[in-house]
Amino acid sequence: MVILRTQDEIKSYSLEMKKAGKVIGLVPTMGALHEGHLTLMREAKAKTDVVIASVFVNPVQFGPNEDFDAYPRDFEGDCQKMEKAGVDAVFHPTPEEMYPDGFCTYVNVEGEFTKRLCGGQRPGHFRGVATVVTKLINLARADKAFFGQKDAQQVCVIRRFVEDLAIPVEINMVPIVREESGLARSSRNMYLSAKEKEAALVLSRSLNKAKEAFDGGLTKASAVKQIIVDEINKEPLAAIDYVEIYSFPELEEIEYINREAIMAIAVKIGKTRLIDNVILEG
Ligand code: PAF
Repeated sequence: MVILRTQDEIKSYSLEMKKAGKVIGLVPTMGALHEGHLTLMREAKAKTDVVIASVFVNPVQFGPNEDFDAYPRDFEGDCQKMEKAGVDAVFHPTPEEMYPDGFCTYVNVEGEFTKRLCGGQRPGHFRGVATVVTKLINLARADKAFFGQKDAQQVCVIRRFVEDLAIPVEINMVPIVREESGLARSSRNMYLSAKEKEAALVLSRSLNKAKEAFDGGLTKASAVKQIIVDEINKEPLAAIDYVEIYSFPELEEIEYINREAIMAIAVKIGKTRLIDNVILEG
C-alpha cells in the first residue's frame, strides 16, 4: 500500500493508474477507521481496479465550537486496517497541503435541503464537505466514490454538486454498518463511556420501533416521528438535536410516507452527538 502525502504525489499516482486503463475507486475518510469505513473500502475493491482512500480530518467542515482538535486520530492503526481491506494507496495530506496560502475557492450547495438536519445544526459544514470531496475526486481522478448511508444528507449534497457541476464520477452509497447491539458504527462512539454506550442504543431502538409501526401500516409522518421522540425521551442521558422524516433523496417535508423517505435523527448522549437513520420504501 502506497502512502501519498502531497497533491503532486496523488496526481502522478492517479495519472499513472489512468494511463494503465484502471478504474479508480475513492473512499474519503477522516480516519479513526471502523468497520463502516472498511466496508466502504471492500465495496470499492469489489467494484474498481484501484482503491485510493484518503485520511484527512478536514478543518473546513468543523464549526468553531466543534471537535476538530479532539477528533480521534490514529494513522498507523488506520494503515494496518486499510492494508487488510485491500486499499492500494492512501492519501494523507496536512491541512496546509490541502489549503495552501491563497486558497479561496469553495463549493457551496445552496438548496434548501442543505439547511435541514445536520446542515441546520452545523452551518458551513456541507460547504467544507463539498469543497474537500470535490478536491479529492479531482486529485484521485476517481471514477467511483464511496460514502456511508449513515451520513445520508452528506450523500444527497455530494450527489447534487456532482450532477450540477457535471463531475464525471459515480457516487455509491453503502448501507449503515451496525454493532451487534444495533449501534451505528461511528468514529465518535469512542467518546462514549460504557454507560453512555448503553444509553446510545436508544437511537437504533427508536428508529426500529418507528419502522415497525410504519411496516404495520402507520404512514402519517408526524405520528411515526412521535414514536421516535417518545422512545428517545425515555432515556435520561439522551437529548434530541433533531428527529425528522423527509422524502429521500430530496429531503423535502412530507405529510404521509407514501414514497421513499428517511427517518433521520441526531441525539446527544452526554457530550457526544450521534446520528442515525433508516430509509423507508414508501
Ligand atoms: O464522512 C466523512 O468522514 C467526511 O465528511 C468526508 C466525506 C471524508 C469529507 O471530509
